[in-house]
Amino acid sequence: MQEIKRGSFVERDKNGPERVFKNIVILTGAGISAESGVATFRDNDGLWENHKIEDVATPEAFARDPVLVQSFYNARRAHLHTVKPNAAHKALARLQKELPGDVTIVTQNVDDLHERGGADAVMHMHGELVKVRCRACATVHDWIIDCTAESKCPTCERLGTLRPHIVWFGELPFHMEEIAEKLQACDLFISVGTSGNVYPAAGFVSNVQETGKAHTIEVNLEPSEGASLFAERRQGKAGELLPNLVQELLNMG
Ligand code: APR
Repeated sequence: MQEIKRGSFVERDKNGPERVFKNIVILTGAGISAESGVATFRDNDGLWENHKIEDVATPEAFARDPVLVQSFYNARRAHLHTVKPNAAHKALARLQKELPGDVTIVTQNVDDLHERGGADAVMHMHGELVKVRCRACATVHDWIIDCTAESKCPTCERLGTLRPHIVWFGELPFHMEEIAEKLQACDLFISVGTSGNVYPAAGFVSNVQETGKAHTIEVNLEPSEGASLFAERRQGKAGELLPNLVQELLNMG
């Protein structure tokens, strides 16, 4: 594997052309949406609107108090109408469109800012605020209004069976098989705006390192829990750093 010095981007290989990346996987977390005004989870004024996670983001919480849980997600869904994608979301969408290769965006975020910023085929491993799932017939539906006990499933027409299409603590994340395949095949892994506190996403950089064939970059406001596992770190705001990183990658293509 080509020796890549920490901190520099990709040193020109003395004996050959600069390395070009063809299979890029980008993992994003709440930090990429912070500059759009969407609260993160673990910064000091963390999200959860003064609710403990176990009171609003577990199947037990939903069984115990469905009205509280539905209203928590209804408030977050309604907030989406007041925020817009930022330069970081748009930079990743540009990379997907313009890089001659495969660019996969895997996000832990449940907002739709990647899509509204122009990205395609985003893998939402923790689900999506703008979707609901029927607990009776298991169908998933686009949903941008409040979801309540009076809401009717568009497929089976039952009342009160719709829940947020969100992966709660204790539930299995979505798209894991496809994500594992992409991590095995990638030659560049970029992590943006995540504290590296929650698995399995926090383990992706180790999965990539084990293949021995990929460069790894962390773009974050501060070093994450897994920062030392990355070959390269760029510290700062995603909205400021990602446009330049994307331009560097496109210049190499
Ligand atoms: N640019 C880049 N990084 C930023 C920015 C920014 N403008 N603002 C904040 N950050 C960084 C913070 O320093 C922090 O490391 O983003 C990270 C956000 O971390 P968390 O709040 O823990 O969010 P995330 O890592 O996405 O949480 C993962 O935990 O609670 C669960 O399901 C929830 O998907 C979430 C998961």
